[in-house]
Amino acid sequence: MSHTTTTSLTGRSFLRELDFTPTEWSSLVDLTRTLKAERAEGREVQRLVGRTIALVFEKTSTRTRCAFEVAAYHQGAHVTVLDPSSSQIGHKESVADTARVLGRFFDGIEYRGAAQETVDTLARYAGVPVWNGLTDEWHPTQALCDGVTMLEHAGKPAEEIAFAYVGDARFNMGNSLLVLGALMGMDVRIVAPVSLQPAAEVVDAARAVAAGTGARVTVTDDPAAGVHGVDFVHTDVWVSMGEPKDVWAERIDLLSPYQVNAHLMERTGNPAARFMHCLPAYHDLGTAIGREIHAEFGLTALEVTDDVFEGPSSVVFDQAENRLHSIKAVLVATLGG
Ligand code: CP
Ligand code: NVA
Repeated sequence: MSHTTTTSLTGRSFLRELDFTPTEWSSLVDLTRTLKAERAEGREVQRLVGRTIALVFEKTSTRTRCAFEVAAYHQGAHVTVLDPSSSQIGHKESVADTARVLGRFFDGIEYRGAAQETVDTLARYAGVPVWNGLTDEWHPTQALCDGVTMLEHAGKPAEEIAFAYVGDARFNMGNSLLVLGALMGMDVRIVAPVSLQPAAEVVDAARAVAAGTGARVTVTDDPAAGVHGVDFVHTDVWVSMGEPKDVWAERIDLLSPYQVNAHLMERTGNPAARFMHCLPAYHDLGTAIGREIHAEFGLTALEVTDDVFEGPSSVVFDQAENRLHSIKAVLVATLGG
């Protein structure tokens, strides 16, 4: 199924969900599931033998970097990792110049950093596919993973799935999940204080996609109404990479009513509702930042409580595993067979 439909993505970059039609997105979802099954059944075929891939990380990463590296190795490709401390990127060479150099060496380039404009510029100049491994605005490889994970756990078609994203929704995860839901025809609710809701143009773009897919798009500041009847509750950190430490106090104040805890999960009214998080998460005192916040504000958990994170409704590690299969699908689809 997928191999035929995804050939049309050969040579394409993967910069934001809105660059893809619902049919193209669905082909990536199918390819992810195909590649995951092939791997599980010991019949993976290497489609990227001899290919070379650059992984540029201007922000830190565990899942995304490892998923790109392992997916590439599984498929027979080689990777080179570049970061600002070990390359000229970001301080001594422009993005456009870097893109033209990397495009001569590599068959594809992953980029993680702050500005969407940077990954867009890389794609404009590189002459090879560029994949967005997270910017402040979009996290499309995470969205693909999350769409697949919801399909796996819901056991019903995308059009029958309802999910809520609860938290700071102005940033990459809020934007990406909003457009993901629209592309997949889901009932998507963005639940956030008014000041942390997605930009109007992102909501408008999602609604335009939804008009074609039958998705329902809700943006609300009411946690109870927002999560009622959903199959999945997603959240993300309250302070994202690159933000100054001094926003914690304001963010805790704004987002405490939106913490994913047992009470919020009960408010779904759905005992089978699942909890999802792109990770990393502040759910206990196992992190240095978690301990700093505890010392200053007395909180033992932030966006999600430990009982929910560790409880039976949590599918966060299944979700994390799917980063590998979904990123592999993006590589295979865009670099071709
Ligand atoms: N979810 C995610 O992108 O994780 P990393 O920051 O570890 O890559
Ligand atoms: N919003 C988070 C996502 C991390 C995967 C961040 O940008 O830090």
